[in-house]
Amino acid sequence: MKFFIDTANLDQIREAQELGVLDGVTTNPSLMAKEGITGRNNILKHYVDICNIVDGDVSAEVIATDFKGIVREGEELADLHEQIVVKVPMIRDGVKALKYFSDKGIRTNCTLVFSAGQALLAAKAGATYVSPFLGRLDDISTDGLNLISEIRLIYDNYEFETQILAASIRHTMHVIDCAKLGADVMTGPLSSIEGLLKHPLTDIGLEKFLADYKKGN
Ligand code: G3P
Repeated sequence: MKFFIDTANLDQIREAQELGVLDGVTTNPSLMAKEGITGRNNILKHYVDICNIVDGDVSAEVIATDFKGIVREGEELADLHEQIVVKVPMIRDGVKALKYFSDKGIRTNCTLVFSAGQALLAAKAGATYVSPFLGRLDDISTDGLNLISEIRLIYDNYEFETQILAASIRHTMHVIDCAKLGADVMTGPLSSIEGLLKHPLTDIGLEKFLADYKKGN
């Protein structure tokens, strides 16, 4: 399972990278705005800064919603750095653009996916990654994890190569549940990854080992 961090915050990206388990980064326009990154040039520069910190894939999202605009922006983003994956929304022109990019060998992440049907369409169009937003489904009393297992079943039935990127992960149990269900990738806040570290018995056990060592030395 690949671990991506879902943020545009360079300090958090560095921290996750230093932990040694980071495989990539996802961003979106809201996460960029949260860091105060505005204006096309600043946004493009920020993507390059992120690529220079991590070794893996960095999703950069288009703003256009028409085919020509998505293609123009996507090609500009892909040219920025070899690690860039073009993030395209699940809309009609987005599906057309996924196919266009796939034919040109440009890697994509189909975002804002909320149903198995949308995920099937993204795979048919040749998306590299599909991003089901499980937290946002949970927010409206719909089982986000169920969507992950539906997509896993469909992709396995037909051996689609599109990778399931479980997105809108909110906490550590989401990460573990997605791992059980066979998601290829998780993307979430740093806290969702760091939560995997924690167990009180580890802390108690270590404290005792160190105390016993001190007694004998
Ligand atoms: O990766 C998608 C993500 O950025 C959305 O997360 O927490 O805003 O639903 P959230």
